[in-house]
Amino acid sequence: MQLRDKIYKGKTIGILSGGGDTPAINSSIEKIRNRALILGFKVYGIRQGWKGLLGEGDIVDLSNQPYNGVYGGTALFSSRTNPFPTTGNPENRIPQIIANLKRYKIDVLITIGGDDTNGSAKRLYEQEGVPVIGFPKTIDNDLKTKTLHTYKGKDIEAVLCPGFPSAAFRVSEMTRHLRSTNESHRRVMVLEVMGRDAGWLTGSAVFGGAELALIPEYEMTKERKEHFFETVKQRYHEKKNLIIAVSEGVRWWDDASGQLSMVYASSETDEYGHKRFGGVSGIIASEISNRLNIPARSQVSGYYPRSGFCCEYDRQLTSALADRVLDLLIRQDYGKMPVMNKIFPVEQLEEYNTTSVDMGSIGNQPLQKIYFDEKSFVFTDAYIDFLANILGLPYVPSFGYAFKKVNPDEL
Ligand code: F6P
Repeated sequence: MQLRDKIYKGKTIGILSGGGDTPAINSSIEKIRNRALILGFKVYGIRQGWKGLLGEGDIVDLSNQPYNGVYGGTALFSSRTNPFPTTGNPENRIPQIIANLKRYKIDVLITIGGDDTNGSAKRLYEQEGVPVIGFPKTIDNDLKTKTLHTYKGKDIEAVLCPGFPSAAFRVSEMTRHLRSTNESHRRVMVLEVMGRDAGWLTGSAVFGGAELALIPEYEMTKERKEHFFETVKQRYHEKKNLIIAVSEGVRWWDDASGQLSMVYASSETDEYGHKRFGGVSGIIASEISNRLNIPARSQVSGYYPRSGFCCEYDRQLTSALADRVLDLLIRQDYGKMPVMNKIFPVEQLEEYNTTSVDMGSIGNQPLQKIYFDEKSFVFTDAYIDFLANILGLPYVPSFGYAFKKVNPDEL
């Protein structure tokens, strides 16, 4: 066979990215694109997720173009457009999508997304027979990838989604930086971390020095809140500063209404029915100040962990998973999503350590119980072992001076 007779010459793949961006989406696009080009595919980018397949379509040609996968975010843009009808939006957009796939002659669709985007892709594959390959992505790290973590001889079903490593690195770094101001003022710092309904990302603050944590998997009922305040008091008095990492989606007992509540940044709901979280750290910090008379501040990490360059771990991870996409494309094995079969340090992120999962099994994976000690509000050694594969060991600097106090009576 001559080089010009590439096996997929004349065929086209379309790549889209949906949902919240991550620092690893451009890397995923670049690496999938490069491999598909080698097979002979033409590669199109569908802009703004599913939205780019509505109306006239918004499609760009990515073949033989420069593409910087190190730069974070997604050059294809993103949206939370849901192709399927919902109560808020009863319009059935599937016929438009099918028509545009035909019109632009897209043979295989590759959807880079979390549970929402890949969940829709799965339905498109199952109900309409569209050849689809999913590709994982989310800083929340809550998309079931069935990635095993072996800890003390036991296999734990963990998760590894591109984008999480870069975001985890940034959360740990931000926590580490916050330590100096927090130590200087002898405060409690309540650091709020994204992650929707899962505490995976919040745990990365431990690698920069967060000592306590609250995560959505464990509701802060009236009783647990009392116990938490006692724990904060004790821990603060040991060394007069404390960082508490708090997931944005934590359920917190509201004394005024006498019920558990979640704190939202706005009342808007996206097309998948999600409201935007934000602000729980402020409530917790002010309750710590008022109830315990300890100086406390809140800091929302917000979009910072989601922003900026793709880290080396994510570069290798997206490479290994894109190699598996190549394999799926060659075998025309659709309705699948590439995943790492185990959690590995960066040097073992290679295709032979990947596998693919059926998109039918896609769903959310909260933090496993073994990773969090709900009684003492700390991430366990098992979690540290899991995340150390990605971040290395926790690094927690501090002033560390042991100045001798001057006693005027001894002068
Ligand atoms: O799902 C990713 C995520 O970053 C969540 O952690 C967060 O709750 C949400 O997206 C924020 O969404 P938006 O970008 O729409 O504000």
